Amino acid sequence: MSLRLSVIGTGYLGATHAACMAELGFDVIGLDVVQGKVDLLNDGQVPFYEPELEEVLQRNIQAGRLRFTTSFQEAAEFATVHFICVGTPQQSGSYAADMTQVFGSVSSLAPHLKSGDLVVGKSTVPVGTATAIAEQLALAAPGVDLAWNPEFLREGFAVQDTLEPDRLVIGVRSGPAEATLREVYAPLIAKGTPFLVTDFPTAELVKVAANSFLATKISFINAMAEVCEAAGADVVQLAEAIGYDTRIGNRFLNAGLGFGGGCLPKDIRAFMARAGELGAEEALTFLREVDQINLRRRSHTVDLAAHELGGVLRGKNICIFGATFKPDSDDVRDSPSLDVAVALANAGAVVVVHDPKGTVNAERVYPTLTYSTDITKAATDADLIIHGTEWMDYREIDPRELIAVVRTPNIIDARNKLDIDVWRSAGWNIRALGRPAA
Ligand code: UDX
Repeated sequence: MSLRLSVIGTGYLGATHAACMAELGFDVIGLDVVQGKVDLLNDGQVPFYEPELEEVLQRNIQAGRLRFTTSFQEAAEFATVHFICVGTPQQSGSYAADMTQVFGSVSSLAPHLKSGDLVVGKSTVPVGTATAIAEQLALAAPGVDLAWNPEFLREGFAVQDTLEPDRLVIGVRSGPAEATLREVYAPLIAKGTPFLVTDFPTAELVKVAANSFLATKISFINAMAEVCEAAGADVVQLAEAIGYDTRIGNRFLNAGLGFGGGCLPKDIRAFMARAGELGAEEALTFLREVDQINLRRRSHTVDLAAHELGGVLRGKNICIFGATFKPDSDDVRDSPSLDVAVALANAGAVVVVHDPKGTVNAERVYPTLTYSTDITKAATDADLIIHGTEWMDYREIDPRELIAVVRTPNIIDARNKLDIDVWRSAGWNIRALGRPAA
């Protein structure tokens, strides 16, 4: 009989993992402590926007392989392999990760586990967490094994990244734990996915090291954008030119408003905090600079907006294109674009934020801004537009048409994705981060 799996936590990671494991043919039960989320999921609805996920969810619910519950007892009794997919947000007032949900879910699960079960951590955690959980399980659930299996999925590509990952990494202490995870991921391993077996701390570190590298790559090119701005050079051409060197590569080298979201910013901060606890603080001081460069892009965009508006923001109509931290998502956590919108509103500008999918979430966090899902309405009477999130919708705009509704044709391309020549020849004053003024 094939393995039965439980997935604890149904955020971006857990909901996707549960649906994709069912897609691989396993019987899966997903758990969340929020009844409303469980009801939506059982009804075949994803509580957030993620392309492809709803189809996979519905297909597997209909096939009888997937259901959701709020009961730890039901999940523990149903399955033998239990994936921990809960959140590890940044603690308020500190760089460190808030581990309440991770340790809390293990405590709730442990009394119901059976000897021989395997708990698999997937959440992004400070190195050393797996060892602590192994100790917790040894006391609360004797005979239950633990593995650490970090997840590398990107929002917007969550299904694809789960079913066709670049690699699988598992940290284990026992042969049976490795054998069980080889069985879970057999279809992916058969397709040639690299499968790396490590110890606990290495598996935990792989995740934060990968995210730190990605964040560093983005901040590197944004630091070059700062130099380009000072020197009158063009960071887009510079990135293209260095990216042809295959040792550097052109992916994740887009200069602009920088990184946001629920992962990169808080993961590099939690990594610094943990390194400090371990006495390895110096090794990661560069990440502080990576964070600073990233945040400077936001304040620079606000300054550039003021500059383009003749030094006056108060009373100016500013339309922001994009509320989410990246396109193809409705996630507004630590969104650079929304941060800029709030800073401009605080400086007295009248701000309207447009987003195809993110306005509901954005309004929940910043209810005082004005939102629209109609590009033309959002841009009407604008003194300035800021392209802050690179949804395809904005590349499809005809600047010759949009110019008719704005008050002054000023646009800042903070993502370097608009065709500058097309906008300029349509009559716009367009500025782009890290690129020379006309
Ligand atoms: C990231 C990692 O990519 C993923 O592997 C990990 O599991 C979770 O964190 P995600 O947060 O979904 O995934 O977003 P990602 O696509 O990595 O983008 C992060 C941010 O960086 C976005 O705000 C994006 O706009 C920005 N970015 C990305 C850039 O500014 N420039 C780039 O070249 C690439």
